[in-house]
Amino acid sequence: MTGLVVAMDGPSGSGKSSASRGVARALGLRYLDTGAMYRAITWWMLQQGVDLTDPGAIAARALDPVLTLGTDPDLAVVAVDGVDAVAPIRTAEVTAAVSAVSAVPEVRHRLVAEQREIIGSGGIVVEGRDIGTVVAPGAAVKIYLTASADARALRRTAELTGTTVAAQRAAMARRDTLDSTRKADPLAKAADAVELDTTALNLEEVIAEILRVIKEKA
Ligand code: DC
Repeated sequence: MTGLVVAMDGPSGSGKSSASRGVARALGLRYLDTGAMYRAITWWMLQQGVDLTDPGAIAARALDPVLTLGTDPDLAVVAVDGVDAVAPIRTAEVTAAVSAVSAVPEVRHRLVAEQREIIGSGGIVVEGRDIGTVVAPGAAVKIYLTASADARALRRTAELTGTTVAAQRAAMARRDTLDSTRKADPLAKAADAVELDTTALNLEEVIAEILRVIKEKA
């Protein structure tokens, strides 16, 4: 499995993170959560008081924070300027703001370069929105995960407190629209990606199916 790159793309709530970590664990591969990088920059910009309605203001600060990302599927490491950001990047405030920051080309340009550096010579499962299309178009295995809007909202609601399925469905629909319609590297299925609908599958079944695809392709 040395050199193998598994690209995992799909909308929020499709089960990417759990499936990606499970596959990495099963194969002894590293794991990179690229969404955590967009969240970390967003968290930093919120703290700095950057006006997130102004793409120019976001672009001007895009290179300032120093990010540290871990690649162990069993240990989340995310730091900004040396400050642990694992918990704060998951707040509702960051989740609501991240689409605006990730739509800015200067932010994407910087993070795509860092993602390619971390991928290096491979041996890694990489999850995001543009991995198979932009970050690692040469990946040997590309998976595009989907699930019905209801299944995705239900999963997200179970992970959070103080929310409802209806509120989550609306928030996810808004984020999906922003992520798929932005000009810079929108969420998209690569032509050579294998699409997997996880609506009726549990996590073990999703991981088993991905391992089957990897065995076939890699
Ligand atoms: O996977 P996630 O929900 O943690 O991602 C957070 C946001 O980051 C998501 O709304 C879109 C953006 N993102 C992106 O634009 N490109 C990626 N490769 C990963 C995430």
